[in-house]
Formats: sequence, structure tokens, C-alpha cells
Amino acid sequence: MTDKVKRILEQLTTEEKAEICVGASFWHLYSNAAVGIPQVMVSDGPHGLRKQAEAADHLGLNQSISAVCFPAACATAASFDESLLECMGEALGEECRAEDVAVLLGPAVNIKRSPLCGRNFEYFSEDPYLTGKLAAAQIRGVQKWDVGTSLKHFAANNQEYHRQSCSSEVDMRTFREIYLRGFEIAVKEAKPWTVMCAYNKINGTYASENKMLLTDILREEWGFDGCVMSDWGAVNDRVQGLSAGLDLEMPASGGYTTQQIVNAVENGSLPMADLDKAAERILTTVFRYADSNVRKPVFDREKHHRLAVEIEKECAVLLKNDGALPLKADETVAYIGEFAEKPRYQGGGSSHIHASCVVSALDAAKAKNRNVYYAKGFSATEDITDEALFDEALQLAEQADKIVVFAGLPDIFESEGYDRTHMQLPACQNALIQKICAVHKNVTVVLHNGSPVELPWADRANAILEMYLGGQGVGAAADALLFGEANPCGRLPETFPLKLSDNPSYLNFPGYKGKVDYAEGIYVGYRYYDTKEMQVLYPFGHGLSYTSFEYSQPIVSAAAFREDASITVSVNVKNTGGCFGKEVVQLYIRDKTHAVARPDKELKGFRKIALEPGESKQVEFTVDAQSLAYYDVDLRDWYAHTGAYDLIIARSAQDIVATCPIAYTALRQPYLDIHKYTTFGELLSDARTAPIMQAQLQKISAVTSALSGDAFPKEALKKMAANVPLTFLQSMLKLTPAALDEVIAKLKAQIES
Ligand code: BGC
Repeated sequence: MTDKVKRILEQLTTEEKAEICVGASFWHLYSNAAVGIPQVMVSDGPHGLRKQAEAADHLGLNQSISAVCFPAACATAASFDESLLECMGEALGEECRAEDVAVLLGPAVNIKRSPLCGRNFEYFSEDPYLTGKLAAAQIRGVQKWDVGTSLKHFAANNQEYHRQSCSSEVDMRTFREIYLRGFEIAVKEAKPWTVMCAYNKINGTYASENKMLLTDILREEWGFDGCVMSDWGAVNDRVQGLSAGLDLEMPASGGYTTQQIVNAVENGSLPMADLDKAAERILTTVFRYADSNVRKPVFDREKHHRLAVEIEKECAVLLKNDGALPLKADETVAYIGEFAEKPRYQGGGSSHIHASCVVSALDAAKAKNRNVYYAKGFSATEDITDEALFDEALQLAEQADKIVVFAGLPDIFESEGYDRTHMQLPACQNALIQKICAVHKNVTVVLHNGSPVELPWADRANAILEMYLGGQGVGAAADALLFGEANPCGRLPETFPLKLSDNPSYLNFPGYKGKVDYAEGIYVGYRYYDTKEMQVLYPFGHGLSYTSFEYSQPIVSAAAFREDASITVSVNVKNTGGCFGKEVVQLYIRDKTHAVARPDKELKGFRKIALEPGESKQVEFTVDAQSLAYYDVDLRDWYAHTGAYDLIIARSAQDIVATCPIAYTALRQPYLDIHKYTTFGELLSDARTAPIMQAQLQKISAVTSALSGDAFPKEALKKMAANVPLTFLQSMLKLTPAALDEVIAKLKAQIES
């Protein structure tokens, strides 16, 4: 604790300390001029500043100040570019400083478990590694300005349905590997000033009063030393929350919960030390901002708008291109669909930005005097088939060399606060796209959505460009990409399944009677599709370019390594096409030890490189024990078994460039719990217990061969024995319970020695 915070706390009453732990208003923290606590403010987040001057709300209902709306996380994740996220973070941090906002409420790193989660547009990916790395970069950027971030929503908040009451029922391995890993990476690598706990329960306990989550894992294991705040209204039992590690309740509670804290201290159920700790963490956050040497900048909004355009250019994913793109200046192009005029560039709810200026693709085309004509075709806000609009669009299409349909999800389809009910685009959009594709070969479809959609016409459209919710510059970015002034280089941060029912969470989303069962376990996204060898529409990591790339054979620095070491794998990539482009090199690992169930592959590295035509660059990844590890719940740690693994260099989860086998040696012994029901198989495959078990087996085989003669092949007996528990020794060898205990004790001694 700094001397200053200590001095302040010494002067405060219990009541004042309790007041520090609850917001002073919707967005402000407690202040006290008499002892020198300044007033600071927090604001959403995550991809722009939603600072509200007057009427406050957390649903995006009331107006906020004009700010730059950068691409939402669904889009920035597709950049696969940490430096880009850091740069966007810096711009956000600068806006916060300029507007005197101490903490930006974001980034949001919940996993896109189901395509239906209404808030998927605010989240990065179905993959925790990609999520964690990109969030860490954004945090680093914002915090360069001595402005805090709030990593949210901690944790397992993967749907909007009953989000304030539902319990996410998730097993510990899945929780650690999928739903906590992104938080873990971001906390460890970027040290966010604050973490925001989620609304939901986890295995029956509210996140806001979950000690395992807020203290044991977050602070003690990951070393988080900042302040934990509640999501807006997420507090269930304030005193229990405080004991569990929830420092700050937001927003203000009208004094009600302050009194509960005071009462708890007075009746001894809450130690004063716990209250002091929470107040100290909050004040430390306040002074980190208020006492910073960083000066208030005069930021250039126009420059940030241009940056929003540049960022979105790096995020768009070219899903398909049979040659319609890029468009040429001398071609007559028909833009169809109201999104061309009114792009959907952000989602609804607490992240809704009052955008300083929005550029549509049509605005951009007009500004550049392009040979572009427009027909509305369908509404961007509703799903109503209007035959007159269809006819007008089809007539325009007939006269054009190329067609670009601007499609996407209307606001009402996708928002914070509720989930989607299906994975389709509005029926009117699909119908018009089908009709146009039937009469024209050169149809490109541009998509605006925060999460996968089914594309029933994908094989008939010539090209598909996924823009996601690309921020206020989305139209300018689309224009540059469509006309080849920029080269698409985004990659899908999630799988596009063929249909919703293919998704692994399908049978359990969104749950009922207050619970949602994460029954698919660790098999989320491509971890499921690839392990099941399923066909998907577009795989995780997929994205095309206007140029082409060639990979050399990767080089692995050593064929084997131990737990205390690491190796590298490097590959050369050459731009073999005719224009500048960026390639995303991806590294996946495959566990071939078969010691535990693992997905077919897991992302463990990605790097985006820029290449001029003819240019090559080398990309190198470091692979260490953590890269190979899964979360062992018994060991309560990450662990990789000794054995064989593959390092996979790939262009997407399903476009493998090369597979490099390696061998790994663990230095820690694997966890083995020995009790009456531990199987012979488990004991025989562990070097520590194998000799004892071999001896027991020999005794058994003497008995069994006497019993069965040659009736049973030896191999079959061996296989059967693998599944037999230790208790079986009792009947086979006529052991007394005490003798069995003796064998167990001997085995335990081996493990513990
Ligand atoms: C959202 C948070 C947001 C908060 C404040 C809540 O409804 O879940 O993400 O930061 O409101 O607006």
C-alpha cells in the first residue's frame, strides 16, 4: 500500500471505507475532498468511449458523447494482429485521457461458445489463446495512457439468456482451458488495472461472490493486484462478495449495501482487514489515474476516424473469391442492399457508441466517383420482403458488370440482453441473393454481422467478404477492399459451421431452469469440428487474399525437448503473387501421447506478416511446455505428458502446410491417485508403480493360466487386466483387506518417494 493511501485510510470511518466500495453514481467512484480522494469516472468500452454526461444507463439507451467507434472485437479478432490491437488500445486510451475517464470498461474476453450468443460481437473468438493475446495487446495500448481497463466478464458469461441468474455448469478442466485461459493470458501478460466480474453463477455460485474465482485463481494464482468491480448490478450478497474478493460494487446502491458492509464489520462477520483491503485496492486504482504524469491530450478525432478505417481494412475476411474481386474502375457495379447506405457497424447495448461520423460504402464510392449504382433491395433493419424493391434491384443487376450485395444482421437480430434464436440472415436477404445469383455470375456478398451466419447461397455467390461489425469506418474500408486498394488479410476467429445444429453447444444452449450445461466440455469451435472430422462452411483461421503465398518446409530447432526447455519452429513465407499482401501464419499443436482426451489440434501461435510481391520473411515460434499442456485438475496445474506431439504450421485449422513430429519429456511426474479403484492399466503405464504391478500380475497369471489354460489369448487377458481395479486382487489372489491395504500403501510410497 502506498503511504498516501495508508494515510487516507487511517483518517476514514468504517462507513466512509464502506462507501469507497460502492459506486458514488452510475459511472463515478467515491470521492472525498476533505481527505484528498478525487472523483474519477469509468465508462464503456470496449471499442469506443461511451461517456455519458447526463442520463446514465448500461443498455446503450441514452446518448453519450460523440466518440470514434472502432471495429468491435468480433472484427478486431479477425486481424490476428497484436500490434494492431495495441495501436487501437492507444487511441482509446488517448480518448479516455482527453475526456477524463479513468477506466475503460473492456476488453470483453468471453468465449464465443455458441453462434447464438447475442453479445458475440463484443467478444473475440472461440479460441482462448487468440482471445487472450489480442486482449492483452489492447490492454497494453490503453494503459500506456495511465488509463485503466476492466477485463470482463469474469467468467463463463457466454450467453444473454437469463444472464443475471443462470448458472454456467462447467467442469474444471473446461473452465480452465477454455473459459478462463483468455483471462489468464491477459492478466498475466498485460496486468489490467481492474477485472469486472460477470452477472452469472458458475456451478451454482454467483461470480460476484465466488472466492475460488476472484481470490484463489485471480489473485493468488495469477498474481492480479488490481481491483475487482462488479458488472452493473451483478451483486447478489454484498458482504459475501466483499469477503470473496469483490472490491467495488457498481453502480451506486443508494446506500443500502454500504450499510450492510458497516453492519457486517460491526457484528464481526466481516473482518475490518477485508474492508481495508478492498478500499485500498480501489483507492490505488483512483490514484494510478489521478496522480499520473500523463498530460491531457488534445486528440485529433479525424485522425482516429482514419485509424478506425485502417484497422477495419486489416480485419475484413475474404471468405471466397472466384475472381469477381477486386472490382475494376471501368466496370459498372451495382450495390444492392440497404447496408450499402446504412452499414451495421456496431452492436446494441452497453458498448453502443455515439459515433462521430459514419462512412457507408456508398458514401465512399461517391467520394471516389466510382462507377457504382445503388438499389435498396431490402431494409437493413427488418425482415420484410418487398417485391418492388426486389424488382428494382434485379433490373439494376441486369445492367451491371458486377454486383455487390451488402447483407447482414439487423440490429434487432443481435444485441446485448438477448440471444439470437437461429443462425440465419433475414429471409428477405437470402431470397434476393438467391435470385440475383440465378441471373448473374459476378455476385459478391459483403457481410455485416457479429457472429457466424448460415450462407445457403455460398456456392453460388462468386465472392464473399466478411466485414463483421467494422466500426464507423466500415464503408470506407469495404470500398478500399472491394476495389483492390487494400488487400484483405483478416482470418476467421471462429468456425462458420454449415448449420447451427452442427455447433457443439447446440443440444445444451441456452439451458433451462436456471442452468446451462457446458456438456461439450473442451470441444468448443474447431476443437470439436476438427476432432470429429466434420465438414464446415469456413474453418477457424480461414481467409483469402488477392495475392498468393508459398511456405518453405518448416525447420524445428530440435526434435525433442524437456519440460525446462523450449524449441523453435520456423518457416519462410514468400509472396508469390502480384500485389502487396499480409499472411497469417498459424501454429497448432497436436498431442499424440493419448494420455488424456485432447482436441485434434489447438492454436498456440499466430503471426501476421506483410510482404511485397516476391518478398519472403521468416516466422519463428517458440514452443515450450505450456504450449503442449492441458489443465490437469488433480495436479491443479498445466501439464504435458511425456511422449509424441505434432507442431502444425497452417493457414487455417483445416489448411495444413506442414506437420512436424517432436518428442517431449516431462520432468514432473504425472498425477496418479492411488486407491482401491485405481486400475491395473493406470498403474502399469506409470514407471513408478509398474514394477509392483508386474509382480502382482505374475501372481495372477499363474492363477489364471491354471484356470483358463489356453482358452484365453494372452493379449486379450492383458487388455482386460488394464480395466481391472486394485480391489480385484482380493478375489484373484485371495488377499485379506489388510493385505490389499499393504499393496496400496506400497504403491503410494512409490508415488510419494
Ligand atoms: C454490461 C457491461 C458494461 C456495464 C456498464 C453491463 O450491462 O454487461 O459490459 O460494462 O453494463 O455499462
